[in-house]
Order: sequence, then structure tokens, then C-alpha cells
Amino acid sequence: MKIELNKNKVFFDNGSTKKEIHPFWLRERVDSEEFLDKGTQQRLFDPTFLDSNISIKKANINNNFLEIDFNDGINSKLNIEKLTLEFLNKDTILQTFNKKKWDSNLKNIKNFEFNNDFSESKEMYQLLTSFYEYGFVVIKNVPTNDNFIVKFANSIGSVRRTNFGEHFNVKSKTDPNDLAYTSLQLAPHTDNPYRNPVPCIQLLHCIENEVSGGYSTLVDGFTVTENLKKENPDFYKILTEVKVRFKFTDKEVVLEDWSELIHLDDNRNFKQVRFSPRLDYVPVLEKEKLDLYYKARKKLSELYNSKKYRIEFKLEPKDLLMMDNYRLLHGRTSYEASEGNRFLQGCYIDYDSTEGKLRHLKRKFNF
Ligand SMILES: [Fe+2]
Repeated sequence: MKIELNKNKVFFDNGSTKKEIHPFWLRERVDSEEFLDKGTQQRLFDPTFLDSNISIKKANINNNFLEIDFNDGINSKLNIEKLTLEFLNKDTILQTFNKKKWDSNLKNIKNFEFNNDFSESKEMYQLLTSFYEYGFVVIKNVPTNDNFIVKFANSIGSVRRTNFGEHFNVKSKTDPNDLAYTSLQLAPHTDNPYRNPVPCIQLLHCIENEVSGGYSTLVDGFTVTENLKKENPDFYKILTEVKVRFKFTDKEVVLEDWSELIHLDDNRNFKQVRFSPRLDYVPVLEKEKLDLYYKARKKLSELYNSKKYRIEFKLEPKDLLMMDNYRLLHGRTSYEASEGNRFLQGCYIDYDSTEGKLRHLKRKFNF
């Protein structure tokens, strides 16, 4: 990729095509001291106030800099390497991670060990990398005193508070407003599909686990839905098209949001799964379409619930499980509450936390 000049026009050549760069695009990137605050990297001018007929009077390439005199009297010196990074037109950090598909054969997941300097360490960078590859990580030895989960979450980013509070306690109780607060088995599900936006990442911290059951279960929604796409394309298609209503209601709030069970991005690639069959309501569609939808949802549920895709493990006290609520489904096996205490604490954070931290650590360690 390189920049070329021809008669006061600037071109971008990516090796196969050559395109002219709009003069205004260059003008709004003027970054000398009076136009860009060095500390915040924020503009000191508003480009929407500029004359839209910006043109180039003179352009020159000098070493690694593109020197331009614009017709509004501004002279600039733009770093060519910085400009060409922008031509990639994507997030250059997150795009470098590839999701690794996994199923019940997944072995040797790397655990991380908590320490007091964890949040600014290279291990945190590796942890976040692993999180983006597999959709979850387990951190051992995280202190359990004074709702430490909240401190931990805030050391990565910011807790996403919900009507369940800043954090929530998962233990069986009488008169629960969610089945999580019983000792029943919980089938694979995603959390809070009725929120807008759905919390991105769930942290679950084991405080006590004295019972013989109560294993945590995880399923990779990415693997399952990619396999469904190959094996049952009609099922996949309808599940990516029909928006259903998810609803939560208790004495204080009624939450509701609509989404496909498999939500794709603008390029029709995987973005998010929502699955919580106790809470979803499909609209009244034509009978044939609903017929296909119900078959597809049943198949998807069979896959999510099959042993082929599920991993099971027991969280020990001080273990903290961090999982991607847009990619993974989670659940637990049943347990006998009379055997002893089982007490987990949970909270949510959003992707801006982990992504921001990852970019920061990458910058800090020059990876
Ligand atoms: Fe859950």
C-alpha cells in the first residue's frame, strides 16, 4: 500500500487498485498542534464547519510525510504510515484475533492466576486474548472478601449495573424471581436477552461450593450455529431472520427486547446468539413459516443441549469465570441444597471495557 501524487491529487494504491483520496478526508486529518490536542487526540476544530469545497493547492511527499497546502490557507504534514493504517478500514487490534471453535473435546484451557498487579500486567493481555479466542476464561485465586468481584470487574472496565444490582448473589432462595436462584438444573441459555443492549460479558465468582453437583456448563454458540449453517441451511436462515420478543417481568420492572435467535452483522457473519426458551415469544407469522421456525428452534435447542458441544467443570472457591454472553451459552447441573452451601456472585461488564483494556495493554507493551 502506498500513497502517490499526480497534479495536486493524492492517490492511494493498494497494489491492485488506485483511488483518489478526497481532499476533505485529508484536510480533516490535519494534526499539527493547533488542530489536534496531543493528549486526548481530539480535534480542536469542527470539520462540519469547514467549507466543503476544500482542494489541494500543492502536495509533496517528503520522507514519511505527506505535505499539503490546502486552498483555505492551512498547511499540513501528515504521517503516511498513520494514514495507510486507516486504509485498512477496520479495527486493527480486534481483527487480529480469530474465534477458535470448540466443542466437548476442548482440553487444556489456560487458566490464569490472580495477583495484585494483574490488571496492568502482560497476563491480563494474554487473558483478554484468550477470552476473544474462546469466549471465556477462568481466573484462579481471586479474593472473595467484600464483593471483590465488583473490584475485579472495575479493574478491567466498568460494571454494567442492572435491576439485579451492581452484582447479584446466586444461591437457592425461597420465592425466587429467576430460576437461577433455585437448585434446579439450568439448561444452556444466554443471560438477559430481554435487555437493550444485552450485557456483553458475565463474570461469575465462586465463593462457596460444598455440594457434589452444581457443575458449570458452557456451550459455544458460534460453533453450534456455524455447524447448523452447514447442515441445515433453511433452519439457520429462518433463525437469522425472525425477530422474537424476549420479556422479563417482576414486581418492579417489565423489560422487553426483540431479536433473532442468531443475530448476524452487516456482512452476514456471526454476531450474537440469544437463547432462553422460557422467555421468548415469536410473533404470529404465516403458518408455514412458523412451522419451519419451530422445527429450526427445536433443532437449535437439541444442539445447544447435546453433550457433543458442552463442557462441564466445577468452579472451586476463588475461581472466577468470565464469559462472552453474546457468544456462549451457560448453565449448570442440578445440586442438592441440603448437602451444603453453593454461593456464586455475578456481575456484567460490556465489550467497551475489554476492548478498551486490550487496546491499552497492546499500546503499553508494544505488542
Ligand atoms: Fe444465567
